[in-house]
Amino acid sequence: MFKEKLKRVLITETEIKQIVKKLGKQITQDYNDIEDDLIVIGLLKGSFIFMADLVREIRINLVTDFMTVSSYRNKTESTGDVKIIMDLDESVNGKHILMVEDIIDTGNTFSKVLNLLHTRNPKSLKICSLLSKPSRRVREVKIDYCGKEIPDEFVCGYGLDYAQKYRNLPYIGILDPKYR
Ligand code: IMP
Ligand code: MG
Repeated sequence: MFKEKLKRVLITETEIKQIVKKLGKQITQDYNDIEDDLIVIGLLKGSFIFMADLVREIRINLVTDFMTVSSYRNKTESTGDVKIIMDLDESVNGKHILMVEDIIDTGNTFSKVLNLLHTRNPKSLKICSLLSKPSRRVREVKIDYCGKEIPDEFVCGYGLDYAQKYRNLPYIGILDPKYR
């Protein structure tokens, strides 16, 4: 049973739903008056479940796109190296973009992705992250929409993985350090 590898549940399914609803409402209000469509960009793979739920709580016209970068290799520590594995389909030049991330940990990955996207001249660029571990930050990242700040623990579920597993858990749990 995969649940045995978790120390405990940190965020329940019910709480996740409340967080996502609240973020969607706030984003809807903030982008309500923009003239063009909003481009919502999910960083794969971690954001795929959050992104799917979040866009259904955003009640304005939007376009979805995805990008895959990698900084982890079946480990729980970030190396600081970021590689683009799959780039966006659409140009973001002159567009309002909202980046969607599962978790911002050291900030290494995201700060590099942001630098890259800024060079493509979007009209605006904001960030929505389901989770943030502020105590681990090495590089400053301004999170415009943050679902929840969590302590320095390795978490899994709701899209977040350990060695590609546990993404399908409907809640978010703390991985038992024995299994790292
Ligand atoms: P950062 O570069 O340290 O900010 O980490 C970026 C990526 O590492 C995140 O997008 C996640 O994919 C992964 N990551 C960081 N912390 C966790 C965690 O606690 N559980 C699962 N993945 C994590
Ligand atoms: Mg990720």
